[in-house]
Amino acid sequence: MLFPIIMAGGHGSRLWPLSRQQHPKQFLALLDTDWSLLQATLLRLQGLVTQQPLVICHEDHRFLAAEQLRQLAQSQSLTAAQIMLEPMGRNTAPALAVAALYAEQTAAAMLNETGASPTVTDTEAIILALPADHAISDVRAFQAAIKAALPLAQAGKLVTFGITPTHAETGYGYLRRGAPIANTTGFVVDKFVEKPDQATADGYLANGNYDWNSGIFMMQASRYLGELARWQPEVLAACRAALAKSERDLDFIRLDATSFAASPDISVDYGVMEHTSEAAMVALAAGWSDVGSWSALAAQLTPDAQGNTVRGDVLTEQVSNSLIMAEHRLVAALGVQDLVVIETKDAVLVAHKDREQEVKQLVARLAAAG
Ligand code: GDD
Ligand code: MG
Repeated sequence: MLFPIIMAGGHGSRLWPLSRQQHPKQFLALLDTDWSLLQATLLRLQGLVTQQPLVICHEDHRFLAAEQLRQLAQSQSLTAAQIMLEPMGRNTAPALAVAALYAEQTAAAMLNETGASPTVTDTEAIILALPADHAISDVRAFQAAIKAALPLAQAGKLVTFGITPTHAETGYGYLRRGAPIANTTGFVVDKFVEKPDQATADGYLANGNYDWNSGIFMMQASRYLGELARWQPEVLAACRAALAKSERDLDFIRLDATSFAASPDISVDYGVMEHTSEAAMVALAAGWSDVGSWSALAAQLTPDAQGNTVRGDVLTEQVSNSLIMAEHRLVAALGVQDLVVIETKDAVLVAHKDREQEVKQLVARLAAAG
């Protein structure tokens, strides 16, 4: 049984000022469609999975998430996803822990209901963890990669999806490709390195044997929980308690705040993937982007002849290689290049493209200033 888990608790602060604390990027329709990135993540699963998806996000975003899922279910006749709420962000290792525990429980309850039919062989709960804020242009290739990963996950592997790197990005995890795994399209991951420094990333790119980690994972729920017991026992203990004491109302599963707060704040990449000896990878060539910066977003949209990407009420004269978005007012630009200009109701960002990674620090300064 394949349980899709949508991780939707991130901040997306590098896409400020469109992405806000109260309205982070996964809830925005950033690409050339009316669907938000979260909705697009669920749409991508159409025809692939039958289990009800689980969306896990911060409780501050419960109405936003619920409304977007309702819209989607209404217009696409999709099973509305279940929403699980985190009282505070503890990063992805705990988010996946509660999700894996939930998937195990759900699978057990389903088997109980149907009786132990000898024809039901697909009894193991497998989780497919998907970031809610990525763009993937080739859905068929995405679905093919997920299908190719299934036998590996069923064999107890922690499956990652590798992207051929185009530059020495330091914001990603890296997978060193090992031996091919017989009878599958997968490879052993010899080494998983999360967010290496620049010199290390340069070396990986030159080496040619490293892929980026896409941030999508597939594994048996029991296997993930076993790895957590070994590498992050405090995360597991806190998450078990948080789910055991969770409360359900009509729309949400609310994790217990005191228990969940006791979990260390750690990502699945640092917490488990860097330690496990059971990682495998399947190549994902599906037009993947994590839409992690303004340039990454611009690359997903079609530029004009001057290399400008403009949205909204924008007037340009001798402007090149720039991204300009206007939400509320007319933005006019003259004789500039390589700029990011994002206009919203209450904030405007003007940045050089080379400095866009530092938007994150700028937002941190804003937050500190209250
Ligand atoms: N529910 C929940 N709770 N979701 C979370 C939390 C949390 O506390 N923190 C992050 N997420 C969600 C984000 O919304 C995103 O969809 C996903 O989990 C990954 O988190 P990021 O914070 O965006 O991770 P990253 O981009 O730094 O790194 C990951 O993704 C890269 C590719 O984009 C890693 O897996 C890297 O190895 C990978 O290369
Ligand atoms: Mg990310």
